[in-house]
Amino acid sequence: MMTEPVRAEALRVAGSGDLPAYVYDLRGLREHAAAVRAALAGTAEIYYAVKANPAAGILRALAPYVDGFEVASGGELARVREVAPGLPVAFSGPGKTDAELAQALSPPVHRLHVESPRELARLIALGAPADVLLRANPELPGEDTRQAAASPFGMDQDGLAACLPLLARAPHVRVRGLHTHLTWAQHDAAAMADLARRVTSWALPWLRDHLPALDGPELDLGGGMGVDYRDPELRFDWKAYAAALPATGARLRVEPGRSLTAYHGWYVTDVLDVKQNHGRGYAVLRGGTHHLRTPVARGHDQPFTVLRRAGGGPALDGPATLVGQLCTPRDVFARDVPVSGLRPGDLVVFALAGAYAWNLSHHEFLMHPPPCFRYLD
Ligand SMILES: Cc1ncc(COP(=O)(O)O)c(C=O)c1O
Repeated sequence: MMTEPVRAEALRVAGSGDLPAYVYDLRGLREHAAAVRAALAGTAEIYYAVKANPAAGILRALAPYVDGFEVASGGELARVREVAPGLPVAFSGPGKTDAELAQALSPPVHRLHVESPRELARLIALGAPADVLLRANPELPGEDTRQAAASPFGMDQDGLAACLPLLARAPHVRVRGLHTHLTWAQHDAAAMADLARRVTSWALPWLRDHLPALDGPELDLGGGMGVDYRDPELRFDWKAYAAALPATGARLRVEPGRSLTAYHGWYVTDVLDVKQNHGRGYAVLRGGTHHLRTPVARGHDQPFTVLRRAGGGPALDGPATLVGQLCTPRDVFARDVPVSGLRPGDLVVFALAGAYAWNLSHHEFLMHPPPCFRYLD
């Protein structure tokens, strides 16, 4: 779970008084990304969804191992252009401003994912050439797409149909295919591939019927490959997924975020206090969910390892709730989890903190100091 260099760095930052700290294992990240890309070779391109972790060090490490980056704001686009100029970029996201559309067109991004007929009309009005995927949110059989269907993202059949007359009058905006992102936190590679089959068997006929001039259509299948926070060792089976993807002749692309970077970040902190309150054991840790909001956002227990460091002091045994320094009962990393002999001064190293972690957190709340950041090459 925790590599030796990460353990050594955790002890080093603790020794130098720099806690809390985020420690990233860039070597592990590169190896993982290379393995994912190798698994997908010949079946699908891979664009990293920058929203999972946009840190420049992470993007720099990933750049040689992905086909491109998927961004969802002008800020992410600027970051990617600075860190990896020349790497293809797909720009998605609802609510793109005029300034963001202009930024995406100069220079033009590889693909712009259009979210609505009105966004398409605004893009067309800018007059610059653009290569786009229409973001589709179709009604497909199966429970796994219900959440997407109940969201504002993309276009249903009516929305897609409303794009067609606009496109007919705008040859400078070229549709290359469709973009979908229809499920989240799917651990099962076979289920994910089955979704890809349902998408392709709807999308390719749709494109043939409505955009017959389109040659070699692209389908971006989105991200959403799951990370199991109960079992940090379990990983999405990319080889099984690639093997089960439908061979249709369409150019396939995926844009995972969490399943690429989650495994390679750790949040390292120490125990400030232990106590019993109304029959419950608590360990109060330095920092809090203003640094690592993931467990609150998803409602899980963040997996962790304890590194003993303490000299003395009271010990906590049995089920304990690990909390941070914030004055809110929601500042909880893990609830009623087994600990033994946990003392003030011990280190707690949270795993799976490389995605939707620091960048998802409400840093300013209570004005505690920020963590420090260490990137291990
Ligand atoms: C359009 C789009 N693509 C990709 C992703 C990445 O998803 P994940 O990090 O779950 O792989 C998201 C996440 O919300 C998204 O909205």
